[in-house]
Amino acid sequence: MNDRLASIKQEILEGIEKSATSRATAFELRKQFLDSKTGKIGQLMKEMKSIAPEERAAFGKGVNELKEWAQQRFADLDEKMKARELQRRYEAEKIDVTMPASKIETGNLHPITQMKNQLIDVFAGMGFEVFEGTEIENDYYNFTALNTPQDHPARDMQDTFYLSPEFLLRTQTSAGQIHVMEEKKPPIKILSPGKVFRSDDDATHSPMFHQMEGLVVDKKITLCDLKGLLDMFVKKIFGEGTTTRLRPSYFPFTEPSVEVDVSCFECGGKGCKLCKGTGWIEILGAGIVNKNVLENCGIDSDEYSGLAFGIGIERVAMLKYGINNIKLLFESDLRVLNQIDDNE
Ligand code: DAH
Repeated sequence: MNDRLASIKQEILEGIEKSATSRATAFELRKQFLDSKTGKIGQLMKEMKSIAPEERAAFGKGVNELKEWAQQRFADLDEKMKARELQRRYEAEKIDVTMPASKIETGNLHPITQMKNQLIDVFAGMGFEVFEGTEIENDYYNFTALNTPQDHPARDMQDTFYLSPEFLLRTQTSAGQIHVMEEKKPPIKILSPGKVFRSDDDATHSPMFHQMEGLVVDKKITLCDLKGLLDMFVKKIFGEGTTTRLRPSYFPFTEPSVEVDVSCFECGGKGCKLCKGTGWIEILGAGIVNKNVLENCGIDSDEYSGLAFGIGIERVAMLKYGINNIKLLFESDLRVLNQIDDNE
């Protein structure tokens, strides 16, 4: 009897030595001996009946001692396996805090949005409010009310996408002027940024581009106010040393109309490739609001006068960021976009 107990003990020791590699295998091994129904020690208990009565007490004591001994062994084994598994996890999940961090890519605003925001900031600082019109307009707001009736030759200045005889994709944010003047009494000081559309496509033109309209209507607004405002604007966008010059031009909705040049911020006016040797770069159209336009909106043109300007946002962005093809602004090439981040 003692031999059997000793051999089971030996089996347990060998099993622990050889096959216990994890908590799971240790558990399986424990079952082989200590499972109450199928375990080898449990089986011994069942044999009690067949043991001679005089030996029964000694047998029972021996089996119990073996059971307690085995329970202790397996409890120790489980602890050991638990510690080993924890150690393995520590090793596997070890973090080297001295490793250089992987770079997290962050996005930035599109150059056109950056430019638009900068322009809004500059003019908001002078008290302008933003009015965003709609991209689909009717003929009246885009042309007629802006002193450009149906058969006016100035309509040829812009190749229009018509959606129907009445509706079109707005060709200019100037349409916003009319909506604002219809809704508000002077004094008026608004900016109207947004997309505009024209059938035009080359290195400096795209069928869809962005403009920002400015309109001021109040008593005694003159060309001097316009000049002062634009000087302030170019200094903020292109640098303190820049100034503007006004050249006579023609737009149906302004009288007089001017083409505005900025002194070349690349060469300081000496003449370079950017300004084509002239020292000046054309940046926008502007003027004193035509009396007809004020009257079309019910504003008394004897009492009030206005100034207006229309900035091409891509044009300013291309000049400022040194971009020579407008398509680069619409191709979403990250190599280009990553280089333009004024918000850094
Ligand atoms: N709407 C003109 C264009 O698209 C730009 C413009 C010129 C706007 C003169 C104005 C202005 O407000 O006064 O070409």
